[in-house]
Amino acid sequence: MNFAIIGASGNVGRKTIEILEKSKIKVDSLFLVASSKSAGKKIKFRNKEIEIESLENYDFSKAKITFFAAGSQIAKNWAQRAAKNTIVIDNSSYFRMQKDIPLVVSEVNPEALNKHNNIISNPNCSTMQMVLVLKPLHDEYKIKRVVVSTYQAVSGAGKAPMDELFDQTKDFLENKKISSKNFTKPIAFNLIPHIDTFEKDGYTKEELKMTNETKKIIDNEIDVTATCVRVPVRTGHSESINIEFDNLYDFENVIRILSNAPGCKVIDERKDGGYITPLEAEGEYTTYISRIRKDNSNVKAINIWVVSDNLLKGAALNTVQIAEHLMKKL
Ligand SMILES: NC(=O)c1ccc[n+]([C@@H]2O[C@H](COP(=O)([O-])OP(=O)(O)OC[C@H]3O[C@@H](n4cnc5c(N)ncnc54)[C@H](OP(=O)(O)O)[C@@H]3O)[C@@H](O)[C@H]2O)c1
Repeated sequence: MNFAIIGASGNVGRKTIEILEKSKIKVDSLFLVASSKSAGKKIKFRNKEIEIESLENYDFSKAKITFFAAGSQIAKNWAQRAAKNTIVIDNSSYFRMQKDIPLVVSEVNPEALNKHNNIISNPNCSTMQMVLVLKPLHDEYKIKRVVVSTYQAVSGAGKAPMDELFDQTKDFLENKKISSKNFTKPIAFNLIPHIDTFEKDGYTKEELKMTNETKKIIDNEIDVTATCVRVPVRTGHSESINIEFDNLYDFENVIRILSNAPGCKVIDERKDGGYITPLEAEGEYTTYISRIRKDNSNVKAINIWVVSDNLLKGAALNTVQIAEHLMKKL
């Protein structure tokens, strides 16, 4: 089987290459594509140097499955055209809420892949790790409402913003003037309660993505209210999630359900260090659940802490898992 990655030089594209490299998937040919700026550069894959091609010159019929990791504008301009000759799995938000496009988390709603028109959309990183945890709970105790606050790493914004955190940290420690290009305020030694653009009602698009995508993936009846915050963490998004059920729950059963949640692992020792932080989740395929507590202010609610690598399960890993599901049907 042949694969292609559009945006191969970026954060998500590079992770997709790494995951394919480590996987057991038989890759006959891998085509790496980016902007003309990167064309000609070489990336190693399974002991072979692959030269990056420029998108303008790339022939989409060369690969059966094409991962798009180059943002919404590229998805808008190229994906429909590409889908005439290849199956597109897109990381951007462009197709996520379109009615006939499946929005898939491999452990949560793989059945959505049964019907598609050669374009499949990968959810937002913050939604991804949250729905992994919500789905098995919703299956047992119907979820009524979710209140989530995120602590999102800079790598979630792309390679350039990630470099900005490193540069600002260095400049700060050397007492130099800090300049911000990719964020609206300094991100080093700070945090910013703003991800993506503002909507009229005061929410940001990132916050609305968590609400709308959760409804599309699990159940339209689940209400989600989110506050999304960028923090000076390199990789690994964290979420504080309050989950309110329709009815009373059995706490031991909740722990059992979370312990068996596909793709997740509970680390919750209720002692110093007995929880997972983003540094520990970086590079891991697992989504971690810690700090599981009854909500003392609401008998029908619980609180949890969820951490996942935003570039892996939050992006590249899920696209490769989607590809694996599709390959079984090809
Ligand atoms: N980072 C995350 O945690 C995360 C999670 C979920 C979803 N996503 C989504 O995944 C996508 C990629 O994000 P990223 O973080 O990997 O971004 P990134 O690090 O900024 O990389 C962007 C990639 O797109 C390529 N590109 C940009 N303009 C192009 C053009 N005109 N023609 C061809 N290629 C072009 C870049 O190529 P050059 O290097 O040649 O410019 C680069 O390979 C975005 O839609 C993002 O929203 C990201």
